[in-house]
Amino acid sequence: MPGKKKFLITPALPYANGPLHLGHMVEHVQTDIFVRYQRSAGNEVVFVCADDTHGTPIELYAAKQGLTPEAMVAEVWESHRADLRDFGVSLDTFHSTNSPENKHYSELIYERLKEAGDILRRSIRQTYCEVDRRFLPDRFVRGTCPNCKSPDQYGDACEVCGKTYQPDELISPRCAICGTPPVTRESEHLFFALSRHQAWLQDVVRSPGFLHPAVANQLQAFFDQGLQDWDISRDAPYFGFPIPGEKDKFFYVWLDAPIGYVSATEKWAKDSGRARSAMDLWAEDSDTEIRHFIGKDIVYFHALFWPTVLKVARFKRPAKLHVHGHLTLNGEKMSKSRGTLIGARAALEAFDPAYIRYFYAANLGPGPEDFDLSLPEFRARVNGELVNNVGNLANRTLSLLTGPLGGKLASAPGEAGKSLLEGALARVPEVVASYESLDFRSVVRTIVEVSQSANQFLQARAPWAKVKTDPEVARADLSDASDVVALLAAFLTPIVPSVTEKLFAQLGTPPLTFADLAKPRVPLLPRGRALGTPSPLLPRLEEAQVNKLVPAEELARLAAKATAKAPRAEPAPATGEKDAPPEEIDIDAFARVALKVGQVLAAERVPKADKLLKLTVDVGEGSPRTVVAGIAEAYAPEVLVGRKVVVVANLKPRALRGIESRGMLLAAGTGGASLRLVDPGDLPPGSPVK
Ligand code: 2FM
Ligand code: ZN
Repeated sequence: MPGKKKFLITPALPYANGPLHLGHMVEHVQTDIFVRYQRSAGNEVVFVCADDTHGTPIELYAAKQGLTPEAMVAEVWESHRADLRDFGVSLDTFHSTNSPENKHYSELIYERLKEAGDILRRSIRQTYCEVDRRFLPDRFVRGTCPNCKSPDQYGDACEVCGKTYQPDELISPRCAICGTPPVTRESEHLFFALSRHQAWLQDVVRSPGFLHPAVANQLQAFFDQGLQDWDISRDAPYFGFPIPGEKDKFFYVWLDAPIGYVSATEKWAKDSGRARSAMDLWAEDSDTEIRHFIGKDIVYFHALFWPTVLKVARFKRPAKLHVHGHLTLNGEKMSKSRGTLIGARAALEAFDPAYIRYFYAANLGPGPEDFDLSLPEFRARVNGELVNNVGNLANRTLSLLTGPLGGKLASAPGEAGKSLLEGALARVPEVVASYESLDFRSVVRTIVEVSQSANQFLQARAPWAKVKTDPEVARADLSDASDVVALLAAFLTPIVPSVTEKLFAQLGTPPLTFADLAKPRVPLLPRGRALGTPSPLLPRLEEAQVNKLVPAEELARLAAKATAKAPRAEPAPATGEKDAPPEEIDIDAFARVALKVGQVLAAERVPKADKLLKLTVDVGEGSPRTVVAGIAEAYAPEVLVGRKVVVVANLKPRALRGIESRGMLLAAGTGGASLRLVDPGDLPPGSPVK
């Protein structure tokens, strides 16, 4: 095995302003799967997280509940810690940014930025509420959009037309706390001189492996506009750390939040005694590789400010940022008001979190795409794959071995079984590569295929019919199948560790690790061992359990939506033909449709058309085509760049919003945010799709 690697791995720090929901759990589960894989591969991992506690929203939220911020933050910390633990997230430390360790490192890092001459003073004008006697963050000013005149918009951007602006540009602005019109006041702020580091940072962002290419491309716009210096101070009152040497000034929450990664490491070092301090891992010359897992909405902070702050402060920088997309529920954005923002605790109360972990793994890839928790698909996949396919393979194999065959394994593999096992073991390198590249959906696909092949082997060999007539053949086949079960358990362990823990006990073996699989043997496990007692691994996930997650009226609305006829990915034609039942066609008619693999080279929104994106697609023809697609509610343009799609290549050109569209993309789903582009896999542009 190559030398042991050392990792420090973090999910983003959740805000301490409310309970965790299933959207948060995507990141925590994704990170945990990666951590568990690395540990299983024999690497050393420190896995830390903390609550992100500072800032105006948290302070005001606490006040609303009649609590001090400290009391609320302590309460939320308990609930976050319990939810993460119960979802099986194997953190070494869960700390808080409102901690002495974080104060220490925030001050240290700030002093180093100052020493480097990278802290600048500038006077800025800001909205101020004379009633509340505080400066108002952009989100605490509301008013009418100066661009499209939509009422009740935030002070930074309009949710209707997307225009960004300064709070004092709003028409009839008012304070979101008390409703009075704010005034503008001048105040001196401290800025981090980010703009000085543009050239260096651009190289970091572009360096291979630091970010998924789609995310790196998205950041290019910031470099093109020129990086702005970053305001790191806020005026009192503010829930946060006072800035040393300044009067009534506090560190902006986004300065001390990522420093929480360092202070959580410090807490881990102190509590575990496994390092002298965080600096064993965070010093520039440390031999630890740092990786952050984050959502696509906070890339800006992690890819631009954080590496630069660390460089100037002479700390080690993250080697990689793993960026994931957002979770939708039944094709829609989760909504607190409709009751579809499902709490982590509600899910824990409804069923075993292994189901969610499995489903998330089955949908997560290396890129920042959103994915959908469709409740029917969720049940279908966990029941079909985990419970039936893998669960039944394990159960029937072990039941026959421990029952009629007395729990004794065959000492050597049979001929057919040996080739089954060798075929399964040949998949180890691809599973390893998929885990390493965060392509968990490929891991799951391989698991299902290996399990299917073992089920087919049993079906063909029918050991249950031979236990009396030909017990040694049955024993050999089942022993070989049990080795495949052990291999599947090893593959599945990072994803559903609580399930495979039971399975290894039934197999009568300590957990088989990826380190063990680096040099696999045939047979895989020692055959002289005693088996445990078989029992079903996981019950089927019932509809009633899943339905507990969402209010009844929402379920009814979603069911009605699902049965409505699926609209097309393209804007519907103006005629009434869309309601007619589909006409039957013969195969020749279908064969006239030329489908090809395309690759998106560029994507942008179409002005004044909130459903449309204009894409530049390479269809393997030399020069790319422009395709206008009605997928803007489902995909942000930046996540599409680099992605493979299926294009109807021989559609007559049409004009949409004045743009000539040459071709159409295939997408599944009922329309709007639920649309999912059909994925042709890794084939090159121009490949035919049949
Ligand atoms: O967006 C968020 O939820 C932030 N609380 C993430 C902070 S991550 C890190 F910088 F602390
Ligand atoms: Zn006010």
